[in-house]
Formats: sequence, C-alpha cells, structure tokens
Amino acid sequence: MEDLRQKYLAAIAAAESEAALEEIRVEALGKKGEVALKMRELGKMTPEERKVMGPKLNALKDEINAALAARKEALADAALEERLKAEWLDVTLPARPRPAGTIHPVSQVTEEVTTIFADMGFAVAEGPQIETDWHNFDALNIPPHHPARQEFDTFYMHRDAGDERPPHVLRTHTSPVQIRAMLEHGAPIRIIAPGRVYRSDYDQTHTPMFHQVEGLAIGKDISMANLKWTLEEFCRAFFEVDEVELRFRASHFPFTEPSAEVDLRCSWEGGRLKVGEGDDWMEILGSGMVHPKVLEAAGVDPKEWQGFAFGIGIDRLAMLKYGIPDLRAFFDSDLRWLKHYGFAALDIPTMRGGLSR
Ligand code: DAH
Repeated sequence: MEDLRQKYLAAIAAAESEAALEEIRVEALGKKGEVALKMRELGKMTPEERKVMGPKLNALKDEINAALAARKEALADAALEERLKAEWLDVTLPARPRPAGTIHPVSQVTEEVTTIFADMGFAVAEGPQIETDWHNFDALNIPPHHPARQEFDTFYMHRDAGDERPPHVLRTHTSPVQIRAMLEHGAPIRIIAPGRVYRSDYDQTHTPMFHQVEGLAIGKDISMANLKWTLEEFCRAFFEVDEVELRFRASHFPFTEPSAEVDLRCSWEGGRLKVGEGDDWMEILGSGMVHPKVLEAAGVDPKEWQGFAFGIGIDRLAMLKYGIPDLRAFFDSDLRWLKHYGFAALDIPTMRGGLSR
C-alpha cells in the first residue's frame, strides 16, 4: 500500500496537465485501477484483516483524490498566472495620446461666427461654389457690363464654342446665397451663409480661394439701426471684449442701397491687435440695406419687405483675432503651422462655455 501511495502521489506531483491527471485517476481509482483492484481483494480477507485494510484503502483513495484535486487547482492557478503575465496591461499609462490633428483656424472661426449668429436667430444657408453668373452677378444687380464684374477678377468656367449653357463662375462672394435662400424660403428670412469664394488674387492678404460669411435679414420693418446693433453685438461676442466701436463708412455695392463699409476701432501693439481701443480702424465687412432690385430678382416684393445684408471675410477675422500675419500660410497645409495656430479638436465653441478657450 505504501508503494502504491508513493507511486501515485509522485505521478500526480509530476503531472503537467489535466489530461495527465485524468489518466492517473483512471489508473489508480478507475474500475480496473490498481486501488480499485485492491479494494476487491477485501472480499477474500478475514473480517479482522478487512477491519484493518478497509479503512486504510479508503484513506489511500481519499488521499489520492485530494492530491488530484490539489494538483488540478495548482495547474489552473499556474495557467491563470501565465495568462495574466501575457495579457499584462499597465493601467497607469495615459488612456489615449492627445489627438495629433488640430482644427484649422478657418474652421474654428466659422464655428464661432455660426454660434454667435445662431444665438441671434440666424439659420445657416448654403449654396454651390460653382455658381451661375446670374446668381453671382445679375440677380445681385450687377449687370453684364458693370465694372464690378471686372473688379471681381472672376474665374469663369470653360465653355466650348457653340456650348449654349448659361455661363458658370466660381462664386466670387457668398452673396448669391442670399438669392437662393430667398427664392427657396421667401420672406421673412434670417440667414447666414459661410463658405468658400474665389477671386484671381494672390499676395499677403489675398488668396485665390478664401472664405466669407454672408448675412441676410428681411422683414417688414428691418432698418439700418438693426444692422448696426447686430454687427456690434457680433463683434463684441466674436472678439470677446465688453466694448467695441464700429465706424460705418458710406460706400457703394450694387446690391445694397444705402451701403456701408464697417471699420473696427483697434490698436496694434507689438504686432498684437487690440480691439475696442486705440486710434486705428480696421475694415472688416461690407453691408447695407438690400436693394429693391435684388429682392425682386429673388421673388420678394420690395413694396412689402425690406432688410439688411452684410458680407464678412472669415479669414480676415481669423487673422485679426488670432494674430496670424500671412493669409497664404492658411492654405499651405504645413503641419507645423497647423500645430501652432490650430485648435484642440474637442474644444467646440459655445456661447456659454466660451468661443475660443
Ligand atoms: N459681396 C461683397 C464682397 O464680396 C461683400 C458684401 C457687401 C456683402 C455688402 C453684402 C453687402 O451682403 O450687403 O465684397
């Protein structure tokens, strides 16, 4: 019995898998196992012998069972230990690296502008970048031979000789969206239209593609005073200062009457712009009361409706607010520039949370 005991306990201790343990169990305790066979021999023994051997064999059986169970648990523990080692994870590492990309200043400023005007009840409208020259010029009271058409330095779409389709242009301003919005929705209407525009121009403050945001408010009694308040309110919110001073300068646009260009009081100190103080004036937008002919072209009765419009350069706003000196760099796709001037992807501008922080 002692031989059996030693043999099986040693085998169990050396077993390396559950399958090996099962083989040992069958060999020792199975129906034809060595210990089971010994049990059977009890029947041939005298009662006295049986009294001694019976409990001993039972104890041996229990001991082997217990050793099997213990070894099985030890193997499971070791397997778990292996797995934990292999699947080790340092939870003290930062969960995720900071996103490498940044939001482009033009996108950021577009979001800021949209947020401010949305707060004043303006919806966002859009139009195509490839526009008919009717929407871009004629409907805006810029007739075929008006000098403004040259002024704009327009990119015209190519037309083969004999192509009868009406001419298309890369829109030179967002003003045609006024026409589209009124044709679609009529009056009253209050929209802004941010987007890309194109002109054949290239220097430090001009690129052939740039961005504008158009504004349009048409109602029964909307006046120049409403325009002034709206733009002042916008500038206060956009430049994040308590006071702004605007200067409305009489000007001329074919699509407004009267027309005004708007300058912003500011100062330049050490290359840094300060808004609302100083002796400089910075032109930031064109505006006016929508010309009756424009309302007419867009299917709105000028005897019943009137209102204001304005057009702001988005890139210009971005340069002013964030102190970016050269417009051309906006569109170079230089990652170092984007890293410097870009905005964190999750900092979405809101009126309550702040626009730019
Ligand atoms: N469309 C003009 C431009 O691109 C800007 C502008 C001026 C828009 C006056 C307007 C406006 O809506 O009323 O220079």
